[in-house]
Amino acid sequence: MKRFSPAALARLGVLLSLAAAAALPPAPGAELVYRHCTGCHAITTVLAARGLDRPGWSAVLDRMEGYGLALPKGERTRLLDYLIARLGSRSSTPAAPAADAGGETLYREHCAACHENPNRAPPLVGRPEWGEHPEYLAQVVVFGVSGPLPGTSYAGAMEPLPYLDDATVARIVGYLAGVPFTVEDVARERTRGWTPSLVRLFRPLP
Ligand code: HEC
Ligand code: HEC
Repeated sequence: MKRFSPAALARLGVLLSLAAAAALPPAPGAELVYRHCTGCHAITTVLAARGLDRPGWSAVLDRMEGYGLALPKGERTRLLDYLIARLGSRSSTPAAPAADAGGETLYREHCAACHENPNRAPPLVGRPEWGEHPEYLAQVVVFGVSGPLPGTSYAGAMEPLPYLDDATVARIVGYLAGVPFTVEDVARERTRGWTPSLVRLFRPLP
């Protein structure tokens, strides 16, 4: 499992400030989720994964431990029980809007925390070059991008977002580019296997 740099984790911290509106279904165990799951990202990230079964949530916890989550012994089971009971596949809570969300909602959920903050990342909405080259958007999400972006003051890096499935990427690209972009289009881009610095070379000019 890939480790995130401290800088990347610090950037994720901004998501916290956007968390105010979202809340977990109240029940014993919710406090554990607030305590252990909001240090690196907003609670909305957890809510968006609603509907997973026990193996699914267990795999999420494994991934988070790979990112640096340290769960005290004994709390993992309680936390998992809460997630399955309240945010699980057979829970009585309504399905997350994200499960059937449009591209704009998905963009807000997965991109806006960085890309609506000019100190963190370049703005993406309303850029005409995406209409000609929507595939670049998918490449950035799948492989990341790094290095100076000509015509901007950005010269950092964006980590790939490997947890976004093809359908989610397709909807976000379709929203930003304003042209249809299908699951098959995303799958085709994935086969390229590029590095972040290579993706930058295919950046379309404004
Ligand atoms: C040490 C940092 C850290 C902690 C603590 C943490 N996460 Fe995460 N989490 C991440 C990172 C990094 C990502 C990937 C980027 C993102 O989605 O913001 C992520 C993504 C996610 C995702 C979506 C992607 C996936 O892999 O499923 C879910 C769901 C999630 N976290 C749940 C949790 C839960 C539940 C907890 C508490 C038990 C938790 N996280 C605690 C770092 C953390
Ligand atoms: C954790 C913060 C973060 C998140 C979340 C994030 N990005 Fe980025 N993104 C960046 C940064 C930082 C850059 C600038 C990279 C550089 O300087 O080379 C960037 C660059 C880009 C670029 C290149 C812009 C250009 O002018 O060439 C695109 C396209 C992009 N991101 C798309 C997305 C999409 C789509 C999402 C959501 C699915 C997303 N990003 C989520 C931080 C983020």
